[in-house]
Amino acid sequence: MNKQLRAEMVRRALDARSTSYSPYSRFRVGACILTDDGTLFSGCNVENSSYGLAICAERNAVFQAAFAGKRRVTAVAVSSDEQGFITPCGACRQVISEFADAKTEIILVNAAGKTRSVRFGKIFPTPPALDKLKKR
Ligand code: THU
Repeated sequence: MNKQLRAEMVRRALDARSTSYSPYSRFRVGACILTDDGTLFSGCNVENSSYGLAICAERNAVFQAAFAGKRRVTAVAVSSDEQGFITPCGACRQVISEFADAKTEIILVNAAGKTRSVRFGKIFPTPPALDKLKKR
């Protein structure tokens, strides 16, 4: 990915924290995903008083892309207010795997905007191969 697009993804992931609804954890997360046609989608985490119903920023962004008709995710950026780098939770990795492949770039962004990149195949090496369950 070119530097400019990458910087834009980082900026959008950081910006997406601003609408995080996280009154229970006070842990704001912002995500930005890139689809194969070059479109960017942002998402934030949205919590609930029934704690288990919280949706993570990454899944929020992926579902928005799916709603817009996109089916291939080529990069995911995820940010928080931490100095360290957070990585997508197990549930989000599973959801990302539906639309991603091993080469999909996962960009981890800290509060200061510093980044680390990892390929999706490294953090989710054995996606379930259930293509045969797809109905034509
Ligand atoms: N969270 C995310 O949105 N993405 C992650 O990668 C880690 C966790 C959210 C879920 C919950 O609202 C809060 O962060 C604390 O776990």
